[in-house]
Amino acid sequence: MKIFVDTAELDEIKEANSWGILDGVTTNPSLIKKAVRKRENIDMEEYIKEICRVVDGPVSLEVIGLTRDEMVAQGELLYEKFNPVNDNVVVKIPINTSSPKSTGGEYEGLKALKDLSSKGIPTNTTLIMKPEQALLAAKAGTRYVSPFAGRIDDFIRNNVGLTRGEDYPKSAYHNADWLRHASYLKLKPRYEELEGNDLAGIYFDEEVNRVKESISDEGIYTGAAAVSSINQIFSNYNFDTEVLAASLRNSRQVREVAEAGADVSTIPFHVLKEMIDHYKTEQGIISFSEDVVSEYEGIFR
Ligand code: G3P
Repeated sequence: MKIFVDTAELDEIKEANSWGILDGVTTNPSLIKKAVRKRENIDMEEYIKEICRVVDGPVSLEVIGLTRDEMVAQGELLYEKFNPVNDNVVVKIPINTSSPKSTGGEYEGLKALKDLSSKGIPTNTTLIMKPEQALLAAKAGTRYVSPFAGRIDDFIRNNVGLTRGEDYPKSAYHNADWLRHASYLKLKPRYEELEGNDLAGIYFDEEVNRVKESISDEGIYTGAAAVSSINQIFSNYNFDTEVLAASLRNSRQVREVAEAGADVSTIPFHVLKEMIDHYKTEQGIISFSEDVVSEYEGIFR
């Protein structure tokens, strides 16, 4: 699996790159906003050029237009301006730009993808929330599709009345725990009727499966499951498009999308760090260091 860092923060990109495991970078307008807010008088063009220079791998830069013509023109501009720096620019296009608040059309993203692909400009289709969107983007010739695993989980949890921050922490993005929690909330009233019943009983597979089905988003019940489904579809039809798992919230979620066969994971810097940390590793290094005897130390002199 390739590892991209999901940030526009140059220091984080440089640090992740120094680890020797970095294959690329993804940015979006929200990540750029965070980087800009930290700096005064940023020279945006130079800043983006520096990101492209630092990493020898794809750097996704997103358009801001909502119509086909705007997105194609902006995609070309991004490519012309920044690709010469290190030949690594990928243009990020939302799969669908229509919303009650926007003037974008329902199929504009798809049309822009097709246009840019035909011109040989690589694209990363963003805001993928279900496998059918990924299938259409692949048909339009996109190089990457980005299923937003964390936001898919948010949406499904919202279906059962759970809100991030209030009902579950950002660290709780993995299948078993959240399904159990959802099952608990759904089934609690019934179990409370049966006084003295052990609540652990609600974790029976049958119950969990029933709840899972009732809360899914048309059969997708986690972000990792969406990644797995897209992967299956692409391999059924030999699409070259790569599955780029995005909106990842913690290290265990990275594990799940890796198990689901994601070609790439784009990972926030703090999650990359979390992937390395383990209490027992820390304990281990302390005891190894304490156990070094002079006889052994001698061979290193
Ligand atoms: O790669 C997409 C990502 O930046 C969105 O992440 O955490 O805002 O859903 P998040």
